[in-house]
Amino acid sequence: MAHNLIEGQRRSFDSLVERGVYDADFDHAPAAKTFVANVLGEVRQQLPWKKPLTVLDCGCGTGAWLTFLHAQLSLVGFNPLRLCGFDLSYRMVEVAREKLQGLALPDDLRTGNVLDRQSYAFEGLSVGFDLIFTYDVIQQLPRSRQAEACEMMIAALAPQGMALIFDNDSATRFGRRMALRKFLTRYCGLRLVPRYYCNASYPPLERFRRQFDRTPPMRARIMARADGSKRAMIVDCRGDAGQ
Ligand SMILES: C[S@@+](CC[C@H](N)C(=O)[O-])C[C@H]1O[C@@H](n2cnc3c(N)ncnc32)[C@H](O)[C@@H]1O
Repeated sequence: MAHNLIEGQRRSFDSLVERGVYDADFDHAPAAKTFVANVLGEVRQQLPWKKPLTVLDCGCGTGAWLTFLHAQLSLVGFNPLRLCGFDLSYRMVEVAREKLQGLALPDDLRTGNVLDRQSYAFEGLSVGFDLIFTYDVIQQLPRSRQAEACEMMIAALAPQGMALIFDNDSATRFGRRMALRKFLTRYCGLRLVPRYYCNASYPPLERFRRQFDRTPPMRARIMARADGSKRAMIVDCRGDAGQ
């Protein structure tokens, strides 16, 4: 990813923290949490019973999802957990460290880039992660690099591990409607969505799923939120993501 694009994204998310759009009290809407909880409910039987279960959130933002994953996974017996995360924005990482005090080690939350292999390397975790999670981060990348970012996440899985890639799909009715709203906001002066939404390009998730599913031993499937907006692409390398 070109240096100036990375810098632009970093500045944009740093400034959202500085302007108070995101802080340690930030939380996702109930419908978003219900969807993530439903996906976790679907896949939890396939997660390895390891102590600790290792979890990486790529583009962790404020740490809201790591906090939620901790609560949800602990509830069904996955304890202890090692929670790791990285984000392009140092300001976001600062917030995540504050939010996850006592749940994650400060060194396990740091700056990183989903397109940089080094960002997936954490102390003592050379075998990779049991669960890799990402939410609305693939859409922050240029279209030409989005599949590569998914591949890097999958490559950072431990044997038996699973990747949960949450995003919007550009090819759905919701994706097309949002593309129009972003276009009108950016080029026609209508304020139909917050301006920073316009930097996001939804990925063609269903196309990625087909691509990964054709590459054994990877298996990929998609779950859709009830209202049709968000999608979760579930990928594992054991051949049973679809069971
Ligand atoms: C819409 S926010 C979502 C944050 C978090 N995943 C959540 O759902 O609460 C997108 C996040 O992706 C991060 N980001 C953007 N490009 C990135 C990249 N190339 N590598 C890592 N993080 C990135 C931003 O800094 C921001 O925190």
